Amino acid sequence: MTDASLVEKALKEYTKGTKAYFPDEAEGWIVATVTSKSIEGDQLRLTFNVDQRNKNINLDWSLAKLQASNFADLPPLKNPPMLEGTDDLATLSYLHEAAVLHGIKTRYLQEQIYTYSGIVLIAMNPFQRLSLYSPDIMREYSGKDRGELEPHLYAVAEDAYRTLIKEARNQSIIVSGESGAGKTQSAKYIMRYFATVDNLGNYNSHEAAPVATTISEVEEAVLATNPILEAFGNSKTTRNDNSSRFGKYIEVLFSNNDKSSPRKGVHIVGAKIRTYLLERSRLIFQPATERNYHIFYQLCAAAPAAEKKELGLTGWDSFFYLKQGGTGTVPGFDDVAEFANTQKALSIIGISVSQQWDIFRICAALLHIGNIEIKTFRDEASVDDNDPALAMASKLLGVDKATFKKWIVKKQIITRSEKIVSSLNQYQATVARDSVAKFVYSMLFDWIVRLINKNLAKDGQAYNSFIGVLDIYGFEHFKKNSFEQFCINYANEKLQQEFNAHVFRLEQEIYVQEKINWSFIDFNDNQPCIDMIENKLGILDLLDEESRLPSGADASLVTKLYQRFAVPTQKFFEKPKFGQKAFTIKHYACDVTYDIDGFIEKNKDTVADEQLATLNSSEFAFLREVVAIEATPEPEPTPNRPVRGGALKKPTLGSIFKASLVQLMETIRSTQVHYIRCIKPNSTKTPFGFEPQMVLQQLRACGVLETIRISCAGYPSKYTFQEFADRYYPLVASNQWNNDSRQLTEIIVTHRITDLDKYQLGLTKIFFRAGQIAILEKLRTERIRYCVVLIQKNIKKFIYQRSYVRTRAAAIQVQTALRAWSARQQMVAIRENLAAIKLQAAIREYLARSKYVELRTAATVIQGALRLVNAQKEFHFLRITSAAVRIQKVFRGYSARKTYKYEVAAIVLLQSYVRRLAPVKEFSQLKQEAKSVGKLKEINYRLEGKVVELSQALKEQELGNKLMSEEISHLKTQVGLWKEKFSKSDLSNKAVKTEYVDTSTELKKELQSVTEAKEALVRERERDQTLIKKQSEDIRKFELDLEKHKEELTKLRDELKTTTKGEDPAVVMGLRKEVSSLREQMARLIAGKWRSDRVADSQLVSNDGDSWAYSSYDGLGEAQPQPRLRTPSSYLESPDSLERRRTPAPSARTIVADSPETERSIRILEDKALEDEILDSLVTNLRIPLPSTQTVATRSEIFFPSHLIGLVATQLAHFGLAQRLQVVMGNTLKAIQGLTTRFEDDYVSAFWLSNCHELLCILNTPDMRNQGFSLDLVRGLESIQKQLEYIVKEVYSSWIKELRKRLDNTIIPAIIETQSLPGYVCKQSGNLQGSSGKFSKVGGFTTEQLLNFLSKLSKTMKCYYLSDSITQQILSELIRVIGVTAFNHLLMRRNFCTWKRGVQIQYNISRLEEWCTGQNIPEAAKYLQHILQAAKLLTLNKSSAKDIEAILENCPDLNATQIKKLLSLYYAADFDSPLSPELLKVVSSRASLNEKSDVLLLDLEKVSEFNKPSMRHIEAIDKFVPSWMNLPCLAAVTTLAQ
Ligand SMILES: Nc1ncnc2c1ncn2[C@@H]1O[C@H](COP(=O)(O)OP(=O)(O)OP(=O)(O)O)[C@@H](O)[C@H]1O
Ligand SMILES: [Mg+2]
Repeated sequence: MTDASLVEKALKEYTKGTKAYFPDEAEGWIVATVTSKSIEGDQLRLTFNVDQRNKNINLDWSLAKLQASNFADLPPLKNPPMLEGTDDLATLSYLHEAAVLHGIKTRYLQEQIYTYSGIVLIAMNPFQRLSLYSPDIMREYSGKDRGELEPHLYAVAEDAYRTLIKEARNQSIIVSGESGAGKTQSAKYIMRYFATVDNLGNYNSHEAAPVATTISEVEEAVLATNPILEAFGNSKTTRNDNSSRFGKYIEVLFSNNDKSSPRKGVHIVGAKIRTYLLERSRLIFQPATERNYHIFYQLCAAAPAAEKKELGLTGWDSFFYLKQGGTGTVPGFDDVAEFANTQKALSIIGISVSQQWDIFRICAALLHIGNIEIKTFRDEASVDDNDPALAMASKLLGVDKATFKKWIVKKQIITRSEKIVSSLNQYQATVARDSVAKFVYSMLFDWIVRLINKNLAKDGQAYNSFIGVLDIYGFEHFKKNSFEQFCINYANEKLQQEFNAHVFRLEQEIYVQEKINWSFIDFNDNQPCIDMIENKLGILDLLDEESRLPSGADASLVTKLYQRFAVPTQKFFEKPKFGQKAFTIKHYACDVTYDIDGFIEKNKDTVADEQLATLNSSEFAFLREVVAIEATPEPEPTPNRPVRGGALKKPTLGSIFKASLVQLMETIRSTQVHYIRCIKPNSTKTPFGFEPQMVLQQLRACGVLETIRISCAGYPSKYTFQEFADRYYPLVASNQWNNDSRQLTEIIVTHRITDLDKYQLGLTKIFFRAGQIAILEKLRTERIRYCVVLIQKNIKKFIYQRSYVRTRAAAIQVQTALRAWSARQQMVAIRENLAAIKLQAAIREYLARSKYVELRTAATVIQGALRLVNAQKEFHFLRITSAAVRIQKVFRGYSARKTYKYEVAAIVLLQSYVRRLAPVKEFSQLKQEAKSVGKLKEINYRLEGKVVELSQALKEQELGNKLMSEEISHLKTQVGLWKEKFSKSDLSNKAVKTEYVDTSTELKKELQSVTEAKEALVRERERDQTLIKKQSEDIRKFELDLEKHKEELTKLRDELKTTTKGEDPAVVMGLRKEVSSLREQMARLIAGKWRSDRVADSQLVSNDGDSWAYSSYDGLGEAQPQPRLRTPSSYLESPDSLERRRTPAPSARTIVADSPETERSIRILEDKALEDEILDSLVTNLRIPLPSTQTVATRSEIFFPSHLIGLVATQLAHFGLAQRLQVVMGNTLKAIQGLTTRFEDDYVSAFWLSNCHELLCILNTPDMRNQGFSLDLVRGLESIQKQLEYIVKEVYSSWIKELRKRLDNTIIPAIIETQSLPGYVCKQSGNLQGSSGKFSKVGGFTTEQLLNFLSKLSKTMKCYYLSDSITQQILSELIRVIGVTAFNHLLMRRNFCTWKRGVQIQYNISRLEEWCTGQNIPEAAKYLQHILQAAKLLTLNKSSAKDIEAILENCPDLNATQIKKLLSLYYAADFDSPLSPELLKVVSSRASLNEKSDVLLLDLEKVSEFNKPSMRHIEAIDKFVPSWMNLPCLAAVTTLAQ
């Protein structure tokens, strides 16, 4: 590869807009953006703009130089936004100090104090109480994989606990960090987690361990070690108010096969503690503002007066050992309360009160030792014999005052021949005095630890495994470093080595597992440094050697060290340039210069043998026991160490420490290790204050950066193919997309990464070198940006095109319109023109016409006149002519007519002459004929006949007329008659009406009389009653008579038969009459009796409200039914009297009991078989009718057990069998309880819950209560009812518990993980950090299935007629559990909260709400408010303070802690801006205004109270006995009750 291309490649990441880090004094690292980049020849110039400072930085490099340094001089790059606030620093693509610091800072400012860095959990001290450690949170973490939820101590603890169980391998958790970083606090939380999670046992690896809020005795004892060790080993320092001045490794012991324990599974059986390097010097000296060990101040403040006096205790400021720091109290620490705590813890651990006071006595003695005043006289030290402190100290220690004093101011040197005693000077004497005190205190501390171990890991107590928690001081580097720092740093060096090796191993394991080609780059191994310290002739060895020399001194030691190590081959040692009193060791974290002063003394740490002897000869037995430990020193692990001077010397502190460290390392190596690095973010202990420099320094010291370096050497970024393909598929063209994620991954990387060394494909994962993911991410962002631009471009094109087309169309339309308008205008003009022309034409025409007409008229007139003249002339001529013609005509007519008339007259005359001849002849003839008369007569007769006929007809006619008129008159009279009749009847009608009124009054009167008669009857009835007896006697008499008569009758009959016909018929008749009269009498008598009987009955009947009573006897059909009206007085009877009558008097009861019927009943009821039948068939072995979809069981079929039991109970009560009742019911209830507590199935619970409630209702009916039972019985019934109520409650709660267990694994997948809305599906992990995150194992359980489950349950309850109230309570409770679980889980879920999730969850919840409404429990939806609002929060905007207002408004039920948590969990989508820490502050400030509780998680265990359902009114006990059951006794009882 050419240089140019290499340079180009190296610099391709530094494009305009790229962000990089620059070192900064205040911030540690500060972000700057590349604004320009230029390469001119060999010179590269990059210009950066520092965003925060608004200043520019210009950087110039020579390319050759850059290349030579492998581009290490370029500023480190910022990670892509995707990795902003990542919860695992190992997933960062650019892994360097700046990125790590930035990552931690971002999270810390979002109040997320825990962050993973690969296998390490980084814990930032919040310096504020956080609601992160409640049992609910423990529950959330219990059973979850480490990567599933947010980083937490508990996740680490759970990981350890789970591996312990699954792999039966011991675990250790190493908690380290500097003073005040929170190690002890974290260790305590971890121990509490084990104690709590372990508590109920029964843990299997797939199920969450039950988290109990109460803990067992052993666990309490294990936890009690903390206050004890803190009291004796902690003190206030400038850096920490409760600083542990020793290191400790506590092994929490677990056992899983303890037969003696009733609990199953793994549980704590004890603990073992190892302590390291108690800071002894603190006892005698405290720097300003610091304190001695807490116990001394506690004693001074809280010891009771008597003890105070006895121990000579006064205020803390009167003791030299306590007042040097000038501080006696710590704000926020109550020494009195702490003392009580210490005492309590000592008692818990098994130290008796007297022993406790022995301990305190030694403590008091030490204080007095400190007060012993050492005077000087001629350079010789002396102590006043009367020194009160000396007296008190020797008294409390039980030693001889003089001897004690002597060995303070004198020393003895034993030579071969003699013992020389010499005086000490004042300084030496003070050292001698203090060394006794230090010695005793350290012995005491060791004794306490030993005792704790003895009591907590009792000999013989079997334990299988342990989890060790190491709480040890982290790397220390002060201005002046001494022997303690040397030891501490040595320990840290060793731990770091182990840690590196572990990380290395893990890293290697993955590579091997994934089978990738890989050669590990050498990492910075610190073994040589450790060797330099601990090897043969190492620093510790030289130190020991020097310490053993009588003339040993610090100066000679340092010279020896220089000689041995200040050589060029030794890279880890340095001799300071100035001075000869110090040496520098190059530790992995930094170079530390140690001051040699006091090394020898501190290493020797001995007390003079004479002093030891004095203490050993003390009268105080306890002291002897405490100091006796010295006799059994820890075994020296290096036996081949040369023993000089012949005698085995006391081991030095250095060697002890080294030995214990070696042992510790062995232990740790044999366990699986988990690392927690605590970091103190600021020196002022300000909550959430961040001092970058301080944190950076700690990150270096705790080895986090070292791990990162190791990872960087290999392939730090690892992703499964699926994850990788899911995120980076946009990097290749869509036609290359492939369902096989491995192939797709391969395509992507070969397409995008040319350097084959930058990645490796494993079996399931792809591995990248550092920075590659950032590059890919950048490419992805560019690609997405390109796509976005492309889409935008197309959309814009579409929009503009559309708008152009529209505009064009619009323009055309406008033009058309305009043209149309103008054309119209034109047309109008043309039209007007034409119209004008037309008008003109018309007018012209008119005018022309008028003129023409005028002319024509004139012409016509003229013509007329002319023609007139002509015509007149012609007329005149014609007239004259016609007159002449007429005259001619008349004349000619006249002359013609005259001729004609003349001729006619001549003709007629001629004719008349001719015609007269014939008639003359005929006349003469007629004259002759008229002369004959006969003929005339004949005619006359005929006419007369006709007249007669006619007159007869006339007469007949007249007769008919007459008849008709008569008839008419008759009819008329008849009409008159009818009219009369009508008026009469009308009248009578009126009369009837008046009559009716009269009669009704009469009827009333009659009614009255009837009533009276009735009363009389009643009286009569009463009389009848009195006569009953008499009558019955009469009856008997009459019956006898009757018999006699009957006999007589038969006799007579016989006689009749025998006697002949001649017998007297009169006798027969008489006899017959007699018989019939006798019958009559008998009938009457019988009727009379019946009536009197009936009276009594009817009385009862009337009491029951029957208004009719018939007295009838149909034997002889004589008596008629008599309706008996209810008397008004019967209505008026007081309910009291009714009640009285209904309740039989107690005497009646005894009478009843006497009857054989009753005896039989009692026998049945008392039969043992009945009880057996109930217990056996009705309860224990009952085949419960199953809920089916086809046939619905009737109420009787469901409730028959309760009704039958209720029936038996009522019967027993009815017969006053109180004891039997108690026994039967007691056993029955017990059987029911037994059946329901061992949960079998839903339907068993539903069935019995329903039946128990029904039974309760039966026993609670007013009938049962008002029976006038004896006191015994009443009490018995009450207790049964109470028991029943209890059972109902218990069945309810155990059922709920069971249902909850079943719901447990389904809620999260159903509510949180189900993605029902296809448009909003997001990948399983919120981002590409799933490498360590696994997601829910159950999976696949949808909201639908959850709803089905609930619906089925609801249906089952309905099938069993479970009271609505109980049904609703159960469903509501389940809804509550769903809501709370889902909410809690969401708050803890890692890499999950995206807005899409919010939408999905909201949808799922809304379905659940809908379901609630459907089930008629809309109020249960209130339990879903939290999760709903949390989901809503995810979907709301979160970029400005205004948005926060909206969030607060929309999420009224969430408190500030929850909102903050959700906001910090929120994972911004691509191109979404990440949350700024300022917003969290806004939330906090808003929250303080309306402070709600600050708990993070909702309380899952806060089960709502069971509300007793109201009693159902039971009309009558159902005596239904199912046909398929063989219940003879119960059947008998049912018949009995009828
Ligand atoms: N997780 C936490 N939540 C709240 N406060 C904490 C937490 N961790 C530590 N602190 C605070 O920091 C203080 C110091 O913690 P701790 O005593 O555990 O430090 P340390 O690392 O053990 O220091 P040393 O090395 O001095 O013993 C505690 O007293 C407590 O006030
Ligand atoms: Mg501590």
